[in-house]
Amino acid sequence: MSRWVKIAALTVALAGAAFAAVLFALWSSAAESNVGELEFANELAIPPLAEPELDSEGRMAFALELQRGTSELLPGTTTETWGANGPQLAPTLRASRGDLVAPEVTNGLGSETTTLHWHGMRLPAEADGGPHQAIAPGETWTPQWEVDQPAATLWYHPHPHGETEEHVYRGLVGMFILDDPESRRLALPDDYGIDDIPVIIQDRKLDDDGSLDFSKGPISPTGLLGDEIFVNGTHDPHVEVTRERVRLRLLNASGARFYDIGLADGRSFELVGTDGGLLSSPVTMERILLSPAERAEIVVDLDPGEEVVLRSFEPDLATNVFEGRFAGADDSFDLLELRAAAELDPAPPVPARLASVGEPDASAASQTRSFTLSGQGAIDGRSMDIDRIDQVVPPGATEIWEVENGSGTPHSFHPHDVRFRILEIAGGPPPPHLDGLKDTVFIPPGESARLLIEFGDQTSEHPYMYHCHLLQHEDRGMMGQFRVSPIG
Ligand code: C2O
Ligand code: CU
Repeated sequence: MSRWVKIAALTVALAGAAFAAVLFALWSSAAESNVGELEFANELAIPPLAEPELDSEGRMAFALELQRGTSELLPGTTTETWGANGPQLAPTLRASRGDLVAPEVTNGLGSETTTLHWHGMRLPAEADGGPHQAIAPGETWTPQWEVDQPAATLWYHPHPHGETEEHVYRGLVGMFILDDPESRRLALPDDYGIDDIPVIIQDRKLDDDGSLDFSKGPISPTGLLGDEIFVNGTHDPHVEVTRERVRLRLLNASGARFYDIGLADGRSFELVGTDGGLLSSPVTMERILLSPAERAEIVVDLDPGEEVVLRSFEPDLATNVFEGRFAGADDSFDLLELRAAAELDPAPPVPARLASVGEPDASAASQTRSFTLSGQGAIDGRSMDIDRIDQVVPPGATEIWEVENGSGTPHSFHPHDVRFRILEIAGGPPPPHLDGLKDTVFIPPGESARLLIEFGDQTSEHPYMYHCHLLQHEDRGMMGQFRVSPIG
């Protein structure tokens, strides 16, 4: 070998080793955990319940002023955050089946155009708040609809085309609780803020001065992952519990992070509801995995005087070891400490029967459509085009949508306006905790989900969206549009 060939070979080997070392350093530093580091020093903030004005036609007018503000997210620092009617987060809206809801959403964000989407809500497409319902700075948007779906924990968040991850990260997120006559009769904890507690989970990265860090590492397959956890905007939180049982309404309002939630001491809890409503009967569990946008209502039993920590354990994302590390699969976080009072008021046991959800009837489906989530920003190889309608669904149709994750990256699937039943996930029937009404489902890499969907019957020229709810993927175009309209 000539001297130059030897030098070239050595250079290539060194470069390869250096590259491997950089990858290994990135990989090693990518795991995050705060387990054991928190003091649970701060009292959990409870988003206020919005008080609607009733207009002459009986509509509930919820006034929401989107605004910028500053929050002390970490002690002694100031962070610029966004919220509605306050500097961060948004009030909890609450309505019942049959109510007429008419939010008045004013964009006070200065120069930013945004939208406000009612995630999980059945409503006319023009009220949906997707990317077509942009609210210009200074403008007020007044959608309205009649609540026509079962009791559930829904939520609302901005949905501007290509910028959803950023707007949600800034904190513009609220819960929307629906009740119905059956849910009101159940002996479930339902005193808002007392034994029925919103748990809105967001992760963030903050610079030393408190400013929000939007940077992503060189390897960020799922999006921005933060190393600080906020529950209802509170860092290092605890909540005082005064009754023997407490219902936690868990909402993963993070852009990319998955949480596998349980109690740190390993005790079980009762899962009573998922995205679209209450289950038919409670499911006893020790952990529940929530991908971004998923909700779970859980009931936890407490003994007088005890303290127990709600924790997110390392989530199984079913990726390879390398990608998993950069998607948060090796991360764990303490979320919230539950502090039981020395004496607890009694609470009835969780009812054995909850809602009449019934068995899904796949024979009711009039057609099957197939979708493949491909790469990190496309469905069936196409990126979202706001001027293209991808699917037209007949009003009131029941259909099967088969969604395959054709990539090595975790994805989820969320169609607007509907709740669905999972017929099959990853090659089998849904486990009990996925056998209720859902609007968002995690589809592991290489796996598929078969969803039975009942569409609404209100036709419109406006479309609804369907997309991956990992917001980086959504923003990059892993989204399509469907219209509900008579075919032909
Ligand atoms: Cu949370 Cu397109 O929605
Ligand atoms: Cu995705």
